[in-house]
Amino acid sequence: IKRIGVLTSGGDSPGMNAAIRAVVRTCAFHNVSCIGIYRGYQGMIEGDFKEMGARSVNNIINKGGTILKSARSKDFMTKEGREQAYNNLRNSNIDALVVIGGNGSFTGGLVFNQEYNFPVIGIPGTIDNDIYGTSFTLGYDTALNTVVEVIDKIRDTASSHNRLFFVEVMGRDAGHIALNAGIGAGAEEILIPEEDMGLDRLLDSLRKSKASGKSSSIVVIAEGDKIGKNVFELKDYVDENMPEYDVRVSILGHMQRGGTPSCFDRVLASRLGVKAVETLLEGKSNYMVGLLKDEILLTPLEHAVKGKSQIDKKLIRVSDIVSI
Ligand code: F6P
Repeated sequence: IKRIGVLTSGGDSPGMNAAIRAVVRTCAFHNVSCIGIYRGYQGMIEGDFKEMGARSVNNIINKGGTILKSARSKDFMTKEGREQAYNNLRNSNIDALVVIGGNGSFTGGLVFNQEYNFPVIGIPGTIDNDIYGTSFTLGYDTALNTVVEVIDKIRDTASSHNRLFFVEVMGRDAGHIALNAGIGAGAEEILIPEEDMGLDRLLDSLRKSKASGKSSSIVVIAEGDKIGKNVFELKDYVDENMPEYDVRVSILGHMQRGGTPSCFDRVLASRLGVKAVETLLEGKSNYMVGLLKDEILLTPLEHAVKGKSQIDKKLIRVSDIVSI
């Protein structure tokens, strides 16, 4: 392998730049050339490439977002799009790819590999932490800290006004952010897609909170929650059934994806980037690099895509106990 392409794809996450830096510099360390591919698979189709050397990634380890930009490419889902991408890679003498992204990005990489036998290694980058084969995805730790910081501020105003806040956090299909940030911020209840607590239990819990003398309540809801009502409908429901509560809604949205990566995410990105390139140089392909039991290990990309990341159900009990 003489030339490796690197791209970021799907929703950006803090730590992606640190991973790009690690990939580029590991290539430089091993005297392999590295090409940055802009706007994910879309840039691969459009031939948006730029040679990168060790000095082209100076001072990016601390930056949120991705200097390579990102996209969710519809064209790459078509055979024609992938053929165009393959031709561009061949014309630029790129002979392997490092894909930094989430499940959709890995699915694209896998299909591409199956069609063209093109070596691909995945680095898990998403704030959702919903990827099988790693305990932490890049950006998840930073997002947790961002969410906790914001909920702390919401708590200030909630307790000043004796209010109940429904706070919606990201996590398209997963409750990792809600569950962990919820415990970290001392939430009274946490609603996640993996566990449907039901409306009755929610009301019951809110009644108990009030009766125990709490001056404010925070309910954290993952956006992918399955309770059957969105945050505004939940507010209306509580307004109707518990008029003693003054309810407000706060949707944290995309601010959760931005900001300076935490030290944890920077170190993880560096470890994953080194391993991704060295795995390709060892002649291996079709793996995702991930952190399992504090070791950087390989998981076949196919398993990473098909497997389901599990939340730690013991945390639900912990939350129930510490929020009484
Ligand atoms: O996958 C990361 C994520 O931030 C999810 O939590 C969220 O559902 C989704 O991306 C939002 O995507 P977009 O930025 O395309 O609206």
